[in-house]
Amino acid sequence: MSENLLTDNPGLYEHQFPDPDHVAARFAHDVVTRFGGGRDLLDVGCGTGRDAGHLARLGHRVVGLDSSARMVEHARAHHPAAGFVLGDMRSFALGRRFDVITCLDSALLYCHANADLDDFLGRCRDHLRPGGLLVAEMRNGAFFLGNTELLDGVRTRSVTWQGTEYTSHTELWIDHAAQLLRRRRAWEWAGRTEPLVQRSAWRLLFPQELRHLLDLAGFDVLALFDAPGPRTDPPWTADAPLSGALSGDRLHVVARLR
Ligand SMILES: C[S@@+](CC[C@H](N)C(=O)[O-])C[C@H]1O[C@@H](n2cnc3c(N)ncnc32)[C@H](O)[C@@H]1O
Repeated sequence: MSENLLTDNPGLYEHQFPDPDHVAARFAHDVVTRFGGGRDLLDVGCGTGRDAGHLARLGHRVVGLDSSARMVEHARAHHPAAGFVLGDMRSFALGRRFDVITCLDSALLYCHANADLDDFLGRCRDHLRPGGLLVAEMRNGAFFLGNTELLDGVRTRSVTWQGTEYTSHTELWIDHAAQLLRRRRAWEWAGRTEPLVQRSAWRLLFPQELRHLLDLAGFDVLALFDAPGPRTDPPWTADAPLSGALSGDRLHVVARLR
């Protein structure tokens, strides 16, 4: 067993975070349709390729990009209708342009430092045709202004995959100076003598900060909303009005390259 349980085991990843109705891909497709994007789509941080695969079924010509070799290998094997490349969101150079770039499920927040965000948005600028759309969905940093419910205590969850029960104990806390949400997750399963401890972090971006970064990178923000989206309750529906309150725990942005 490798030491990066979820990204090294794409099957377990999908089992832990199921999306049987392809809500994330439908969200991206509906937003692209609503804001007049084209068919050529790059999905950055594509993970298992399930969104790229479904977007291809919905009529897009899709390339997925991820920095995990295991994820890219899995995506190629399971979603032959899309193309997949191994690459880093801060430095990829594919030598072509797209109509749309998607970056879903907080993948953008792996850009921890300001320079990482600038690099990623610069890569997006260089891979979009003029007028192309950037569609991103992520945690909302502003949610943590006054909400501590995600930060209270350790959450324990079990999932059974391929006959083995995996139990995770997860703690989240805020690193205020770095503006990061940090996570410590300890996994236990039968036959493992001591827990496998994994640490992650996500940049906490505030809505006005995101607007400013996008403006500096050459994008006009067409929509910025906290709900509905693929990971909100109630979830995304194509005709729902977009809430600009921005107090919810998810942040969705649609921006057009000038
Ligand atoms: C939370 S997963 C999201 C996967 C997929 N978008 C989904 O919604 O199912 C984040 C993905 O971002 C990838 N990732 C993390 N850092 C990255 C980077 N610097 N460049 C490209 N991909 C990255 C991880 O390998 C992982 O597959």
